[in-house]
Amino acid sequence: MGSADKPLVHVFLVSFPGQGHVNPLLRLGKRLASKGLLVTLSTTEDFGKQMAKVNNITHEPTPFGDGFIRFDFFNDGMDDDDPRRSSLDQCMAQLELVGREEVSRMIKRYEEQNRPVSCLINNPFIPWASDVAESLNIPSAMLWVQSCASFAAYYHYNNGSVPFPSETDPEIDVQLPAMPLLKHDEIPSFLHPSTPYGVLGRAILGQFKNLNKPFCVLMDTFQELEHELVEYMSKFCPVRTVGPLFMDPSPKAITNTVRCDMMKADDCIEWLDSKPPSSVVYISFGTIVHLKQEQADEIAHALLNTGLSFLWVMKPPLPGFSLQPHTLPEGFLEKVGDKGKIVKWSPQEKVLTHPSVSCFLSHCGWNSTMEALSSGMPIIAFPRWGDQVTDAVYLVDVFKTGVRMCRGEAEGRIIPREEVEKCLREATEGPKAVEMKKNALKWKAAAEAAVADGGSSDRNIQDFIDEVKRRST
Ligand code: UDX
Repeated sequence: MGSADKPLVHVFLVSFPGQGHVNPLLRLGKRLASKGLLVTLSTTEDFGKQMAKVNNITHEPTPFGDGFIRFDFFNDGMDDDDPRRSSLDQCMAQLELVGREEVSRMIKRYEEQNRPVSCLINNPFIPWASDVAESLNIPSAMLWVQSCASFAAYYHYNNGSVPFPSETDPEIDVQLPAMPLLKHDEIPSFLHPSTPYGVLGRAILGQFKNLNKPFCVLMDTFQELEHELVEYMSKFCPVRTVGPLFMDPSPKAITNTVRCDMMKADDCIEWLDSKPPSSVVYISFGTIVHLKQEQADEIAHALLNTGLSFLWVMKPPLPGFSLQPHTLPEGFLEKVGDKGKIVKWSPQEKVLTHPSVSCFLSHCGWNSTMEALSSGMPIIAFPRWGDQVTDAVYLVDVFKTGVRMCRGEAEGRIIPREEVEKCLREATEGPKAVEMKKNALKWKAAAEAAVADGGSSDRNIQDFIDEVKRRST
């Protein structure tokens, strides 16, 4: 690999341990490796163990395109049954405490092994990673795994230049430059004074306080999608759009050898193959959102009332949070018969590109949003918290590929079956459904052009690699 006196340019990716974070960082890693770099992806050993149950996790550099890729994890110092695992605050504090030391140790070890790190790339929630890079004189970049709109919201909040909802004024609208007016429950909810997830907001804001450290902010979006905003934000920080990272131009046979799924996907493609074109509603809420049982009941009844076919991901609750698995209304499966399929985890990328799928009932996590847009798939927007609420605004009002099932108030409110049913019908029949599909296909074409050779995202990745090389010589 490389030659003894001139090792490959080595990029070290450090990820927060969550599927929605590791996925885009690994996808970026594959792009960089395919262009001739050595890529090491790291996250906690605990998360790595889950990935290794399902995927072939290689610790030795494995050829990928013109470069190499490998995994190297660090121990977060907590046993599986450590009570701290059920407290987000304590997990984040422990991750930082251990992560700072471990990441620094790994970088020094790579240096001794003649594989010095040319650039460290982290994703949000672990802002301390750029401190580690700085302390070791290593250039760093950040991969922002949400939209440019969410980035802008955090940026302006951190600047204090625009009023945001506060304890004394919790319901004010927010007008940010180059963005539509956001209601108080449409800003990323971690910035709202009522959020129960303040620790996550603080972690992300930590990254904004550290924004002078990364020489570049890579974004899993594409220029054409958030054009005006990307241009505006580029005046203030070195933004480079590199998405949709989900659309890997490498041959599938190569790209599928390196994956990081948390769970083994259930077989559902054959079942989809048996369904007519555009007849199945796909339902999934990502990796963290856990619906209240009453909400799952309302969705189930709405599906029965419409008679639509559906594929529904009902994943088991994340361990450590005392959540119960969902149950279905009595007799539901008998009534549905072969019209519906429930799985614990789906091969979402394949599902969204399957011709039998008509629309996606989604929590609007950014990965799901980008995957849907890149697949030409309309969305029924059911955001819960974080950036999801802002993504929903864009899907419905800006990209015009979505119907709104709720705004950010959803966390506290159960959406009744009649409202769910209305959205299901709107997204699958009539002029609105046709219009949304047309728009979704337009975005799909734009996304394909962005990642193709010489497209905006492809050029930005190449410029980034050139910059890393310049900085490492
Ligand atoms: C989290 C936050 O919730 C989200 O708001 C933020 O934008 C990213 O981090 P998550 O909730 O996991 O993400 O949702 P999402 O961003 O949609 O990512 C989920 C990933 O899991 C997607 O890449 C999706 O393809 C994958 N997935 C999900 C599957 O492969 N199979 C499934 O059954 C469900």
